[in-house]
Amino acid sequence: MSALPLPTPAELRITPRDRRFGRDAATPRLWHGGRVEATAIYNALSTTFPKGEAFFVESVRAFRDGAPPALAEEIKAFTTQEAIHSREHDAFNKRAADAGYDLSKLEQRVEERLAITKGRPPIVSLAATMALEHFTAILAHQLLADPRHLQGADRESADLWRWHAVEEVEHKGVAYDTWLYATRHWPRSKRWKLKARVMLLVTRNFVVDRTAGALELMRQDGVTGLRGWRLLLTHLWVRPGMFRKIAGAWLSFFLPGFHPWNVDDRHLLAAYAASVTVEEPKRKVRRAV
Ligand SMILES: [Fe+2]
Ligand SMILES: [Fe+2]
Repeated sequence: MSALPLPTPAELRITPRDRRFGRDAATPRLWHGGRVEATAIYNALSTTFPKGEAFFVESVRAFRDGAPPALAEEIKAFTTQEAIHSREHDAFNKRAADAGYDLSKLEQRVEERLAITKGRPPIVSLAATMALEHFTAILAHQLLADPRHLQGADRESADLWRWHAVEEVEHKGVAYDTWLYATRHWPRSKRWKLKARVMLLVTRNFVVDRTAGALELMRQDGVTGLRGWRLLLTHLWVRPGMFRKIAGAWLSFFLPGFHPWNVDDRHLLAAYAASVTVEEPKRKVRRAV
């Protein structure tokens, strides 16, 4: 790793926390404070995780051979974390289905997007993963930094989202470091052009697909038309305004010298560790791949 000037903190340890959520009782249909739009956007996001994060793992692991040992270790821990996230979101999505939501349209959209990306060269899949991991990390940062995002949410569901957010912040540099390693012989301009193009594309797809997904779930709750749009856009852009709050961090991706760890948010990890009282299970974590 010494060949790469990486701001990933040298003492950072990526630690899979093998936890399970919401297995003991049914999750209320409108688990997010009884609010249709808040429940819908988080459910729409959760629908992407099982397949999406398996794709991230595949894309990063394709470049693991020959990687410096420290990066190879990080990739291993990243793989384990994402595998457990997939398992927990799969269970969360099943609970949403048990509560009466039909997620099939949303799942189909994820599969269509992934099929297109998988048809491209592996470096494009890595670039898409690196861009989406930045996206995920800044959402996660915001979720942890401002408790209003999960205000009123069902306890187990909020715990799941916070736990996932912590691990996304913790491993936010892995896909990016893999990308820097995989493109180490590229001229800077070529690297920037591909990463910028891919970020613009995945952001457009993310916003379009998650909005459509959330509106579809809101329709299943009987909220449609202008009222649906107003509720959803207010939630995303005004109050609590997740998209507005991550806009600056999203833009930073395009600046020269960008690296996810230019923002050191390990205080969020420490605050989470101090707040969690459950004991981590001792059993061995099953690997994804
Ligand atoms: Fe994840
Ligand atoms: Fe991730």
